[in-house]
Amino acid sequence: MGKDLLIYGANGYTGELITRLATERGLKPILAGRNEPAISALAEKHGLEHRVFSLDEREKLDAALQEVEIILHCAGPFSLTSKPMVEACLRNRKHYTDITGEISVFEACAALDKRAREAGIMIMPGVGFDVVPSDCLALHLKNRLPTATYLTLAFYGMGRLSHGTQATMTMNVGRGGAIRKDSKITPVPAGWKTREIDFGEVTKTGVTIPWGDVATAFYSTGIPNIEVYTIAPASALKMMKLSRYFGGLFATGPFQKYLQSKIPAGGPSDTERAKGRTLFWGEVRDAEGNRAQSLQQAPEGYTLTAIAALNIAEKVLGGNFRTGFQTPAKAYGADLVLEIEGVMRQDV
Ligand SMILES: NC(=O)c1ccc[n+]([C@@H]2O[C@H](COP(=O)([O-])OP(=O)(O)OC[C@H]3O[C@@H](n4cnc5c(N)ncnc54)[C@H](OP(=O)(O)O)[C@@H]3O)[C@@H](O)[C@H]2O)c1
Repeated sequence: MGKDLLIYGANGYTGELITRLATERGLKPILAGRNEPAISALAEKHGLEHRVFSLDEREKLDAALQEVEIILHCAGPFSLTSKPMVEACLRNRKHYTDITGEISVFEACAALDKRAREAGIMIMPGVGFDVVPSDCLALHLKNRLPTATYLTLAFYGMGRLSHGTQATMTMNVGRGGAIRKDSKITPVPAGWKTREIDFGEVTKTGVTIPWGDVATAFYSTGIPNIEVYTIAPASALKMMKLSRYFGGLFATGPFQKYLQSKIPAGGPSDTERAKGRTLFWGEVRDAEGNRAQSLQQAPEGYTLTAIAALNIAEKVLGGNFRTGFQTPAKAYGADLVLEIEGVMRQDV
């Protein structure tokens, strides 16, 4: 087992981390990407096969997919890269997973549900930090209060962000926030609401963000109203609010080019990741005023991404998958995240 997995964007920060963990697990994925020197050097380092192609090289993409059962797409921003890969997976009847957190990508994948079922494949975007732990927490809360109509989620402690995460966030600056209201994804201003979040060991001020769960938790739980908060320093909150007025400017070509050029390569070091932790809080409410709250602790975000993504890939390779568009918790249940060492959940 192992060569049945293709990691695209393997030379990126997260792709490399996933590659390293995959080899530690004894997997032998095929590494792929568009950057020949970087991909071949990484493949040589780990003794793996590699393929080099860009996403518009349809023949090479199809040929690579024909060699495997599942793709783990690590080349983001996924709003720019997901579509050609998902279409190739549908064409070649191969399972698609990625590590996106972008609402537009989740929604585009959800719209492919029928085609995925017809092709006999699973399409599961968001197999990383966003959304595995929060998706599992959302379903756990829904199971505790099946009549829930409101879901609020919060997370804290992402630590240092990788190049790709910052690039994706920068690309989306000026697009405002989003919540789910009456089942519909609804735009709200950036930094729309703040509230105190009690994570158990610490209470922090959270701010609404357009996190992937605004899309996915609806498919996992059916809850029609969803808000997601993160903990941001006062300076970031100020920037969010400023982006309401200047976001349009930041989104223009020259500004984007400038901002993107300032993002440092790489991401948190092994030591930083080992020291990092993430905290989650979630609450559901129903129309009668009943409530349930749960907390979750987990490893650092990029470590969690690598473990969660490979856990899911291994399940699929073992024949454990559901066809169609899936979210992690919908396919594998609320306890999926508890398979990761260091994850703890507590009802409060
Ligand atoms: N959901 C989560 O929890 C989570 C966790 C980690 C990362 N992410 C997301 O994953 C993505 C990657 O993050 P990262 O920090 O690993 O990024 P990174 O270090 O910047 O690496 C990006 C990778 O994507 C490739 N790539 C970018 N655009 C491409 C395109 N148009 N066609 C083909 N390949 C392309 C790059 O190839 P080149 O070397 O050729 O440029 C590189 O291999 C980001 O979108 C980030 O937000 C999400």
